[in-house]
Amino acid sequence: MLGLESSCDDTAAAIVRRAPDGSVTVLAERVVGQDAAHAPYGGVVPEIAARAHAERMDTLAAEVLAEAGLAPAELDAVAATAGPGLIGGVMAALMTAKGIALGAGIPLIAVNHLEGHALSPRLTHQLNFPYLLLLVSGGHTQLVIVEGVGAMTRLGSTIDDAAGEAFDKTAKIMGLGFPGGPAVERAARAARDPARFALPRMLAGKPGCDFSFAGLKTAARRAWEALDAPGDIDRADLAAAVQTAIAVHLAERTGRAMDQYADRLPDAPRTLVIAGGVAANQTVRAALADAAAARGFTWLAPPLKYCTDNAAMIALAGAERLALGWTDGLDAPARARWPLDEAAAARDPASGSGRKGPKA
Ligand code: KG4
Ligand code: ZN
Repeated sequence: MLGLESSCDDTAAAIVRRAPDGSVTVLAERVVGQDAAHAPYGGVVPEIAARAHAERMDTLAAEVLAEAGLAPAELDAVAATAGPGLIGGVMAALMTAKGIALGAGIPLIAVNHLEGHALSPRLTHQLNFPYLLLLVSGGHTQLVIVEGVGAMTRLGSTIDDAAGEAFDKTAKIMGLGFPGGPAVERAARAARDPARFALPRMLAGKPGCDFSFAGLKTAARRAWEALDAPGDIDRADLAAAVQTAIAVHLAERTGRAMDQYADRLPDAPRTLVIAGGVAANQTVRAALADAAAARGFTWLAPPLKYCTDNAAMIALAGAERLALGWTDGLDAPARARWPLDEAAAARDPASGSGRKGPKA
């Protein structure tokens, strides 16, 4: 299975082979990031991202095919992320995949990017369904029960910013580089007094498993602007406070989700999977490890290269779908919004329903 990904700021292609027993071999993989192109703006600029994806996607596909020693017609199918994401970017992978499918006479599989993340631990672990997934990236923050391919139940998601955005936006306020998460983590190591800044505990005591980060960003901005000629120590202390506030919030809401999971599926294995770029953060990991241990859950995170955006997870989602006989037509649309659990999203649009339908 060839997988293509271009929904945010990484252009990626990969070829995986999935055996009937579920074991997976990654035959070739490439990921090309765009951090340098977006760094001057402190965030991802959709037009710059779309152009960069369009320039690279076909070359990357050709490279992984060459490395795997395969002609397009030797593939069983081609899978591409069809959403959710920045629409100009999503089209780069999807249209490339449609071209390959048409030219080589092989099926197309339109993959939900979130399903790719949800299945990503199965690239490296023999992990059976069901499990609880916390997806924490720059674009998404959600809790999902993964019961099978195409069978996902969302327990909660962010009502405003994603956790990665909270890192990126607060980093920008403090004049730290982009992407903000690693910069905040690095700065926080030099903190002298991590308890100096009192930041809000978002949704404290509120039932449910939704997240909110907008209040934290505002509080961090106020704290920063109130400082007189802030320097590196102020930056380190505030970075530590922000990082702790995000970790505590993630652990608190995920704790509620673990309780709900255990109530709904009392006999299921208690497994928490953490994926997305923010899962790289050691403070976040430690907080989630504590919350999991307190509830008898084991936790795992895919290796970092499969935690962040990649095409191997899209190829795997395609392979798992193909094994079930699910393919898509060449009219499959690119979708800016595409909730994993569309029925639940329509009932309870945590991220706003809007004219275009609920956000992811
Ligand atoms: O999954 P990802 O690579 O891309 C998507 O957003 O889909 O996640 C990128 C996000 C960025 O917001 C980045 O700041 C954050 O993950 N991130 C981190 C760390 N490394 C990356 N956040 C906190 N600590 C980190 N070490
Ligand atoms: Zn992603």
